[in-house]
Amino acid sequence: MEFKEVIKNRYSCKKYSGRQVEAEKLEAILNAGRLAPTAKNLQEQHVYVLQSTQMLEKIDAVTPCRYGAPTVLVVAFDKNNVFTYPGGKRNSGAEDAAIVATHMTLAAADEGVDSCWINFLDPDKTAEVLGLPENEEVLMLLDLGYAAEGTGPLPNHESRKDLSETVTYI
Ligand SMILES: Cc1cc2nc3c(=O)[nH]c(=O)nc-3n(C[C@H](O)[C@H](O)[C@H](O)COP(=O)(O)O)c2cc1C
Repeated sequence: MEFKEVIKNRYSCKKYSGRQVEAEKLEAILNAGRLAPTAKNLQEQHVYVLQSTQMLEKIDAVTPCRYGAPTVLVVAFDKNNVFTYPGGKRNSGAEDAAIVATHMTLAAADEGVDSCWINFLDPDKTAEVLGLPENEEVLMLLDLGYAAEGTGPLPNHESRKDLSETVTYI
């Protein structure tokens, strides 16, 4: 798909059918995450693929936002392998993981797979429920699947500020 079409077609899907994401499409999505840039090329992300009833029930215990998606990716990062920026206030962990997640979100759209970026959760509780290692912090979940029949983008998908409100040439 043309890049502009991918950007246009992506939307947050909030009701999924039971149809599972094909393994080769999932592989393409995961690979797009693998190719994302990270600070100093640290690649501190760790992506978990959840598809079993048992693991999806754990997701349902920490967020109401799975919306019936048959696959959920958990994007975490290694807190001990981040690049701290000058000034010491921020580091690359969340930023790098967000770029990985963005690549995967757009790759899903390219594969015709519907998705939703989910952050309505307590990241510490989520890591605990999933049994992630102590050094990993959860950034977000990515619901993946196919939209249930008759559903589509919510009205706010079309609502974007004008460029003049968010861009300033200085
Ligand atoms: C950082 C981030 C966190 C989000 N968290 C949630 C969430 O927890 N639950 C949810 O239903 N949607 C969530 N969304 C989806 C947004 O609500 C959605 O992207 C926004 O309303 C615009 O709609 P669109 O993606 O269809 O264009 C999140 C999106 C982003 C980028």
